[in-house]
Amino acid sequence: MRVLVLHGPNLNLLGRREPEIYGRVTLAEIDATLERAAGRLGVELRCLQRNGEGEMVDAVQEALGWADGIVVNPAAYSHTSVALRDALAAVDIPVIEVHLTNPAAREDFRHRDLIAGVCRAVVAGFGPAGYVLALERLAEARGGGEAAR
Ligand code: DQA
Repeated sequence: MRVLVLHGPNLNLLGRREPEIYGRVTLAEIDATLERAAGRLGVELRCLQRNGEGEMVDAVQEALGWADGIVVNPAAYSHTSVALRDALAAVDIPVIEVHLTNPAAREDFRHRDLIAGVCRAVVAGFGPAGYVLALERLAEARGGGEAAR
């Protein structure tokens, strides 16, 4: 099984970005933890971080023919991007959305999520552990036989 892990804008700054909200764990540490989990689950991973909306759309399109699953933290684009939603719907690859925090418990503008409707599941508020949960869930459901919906 091959999984694309796609991190959105400003997540490259994890560790120093508003640590009182996002904690001190860096993106490199999150990816290293995911690589270890992937080894245990027999999953091949590609971890990418992109700041641009179009770059995220490109990364999703490039997953076509390679990835069997996508774990995405769309970050701020969760709340704004029809283009990213359409790309995820277009490739028809199972997607799980991850948020470190729980956007529903934050500012009003974070309550709208345009991406969730094209995802099998959303994991929010578990911090970095949420990424591992998402990867485990995709691996459990591999082959498409067991839908997480
Ligand atoms: C986030 C939540 C978003 O609202 C925010 O814009 C982020 C990070 C999270 O992981 O909690 O950049 O996606």
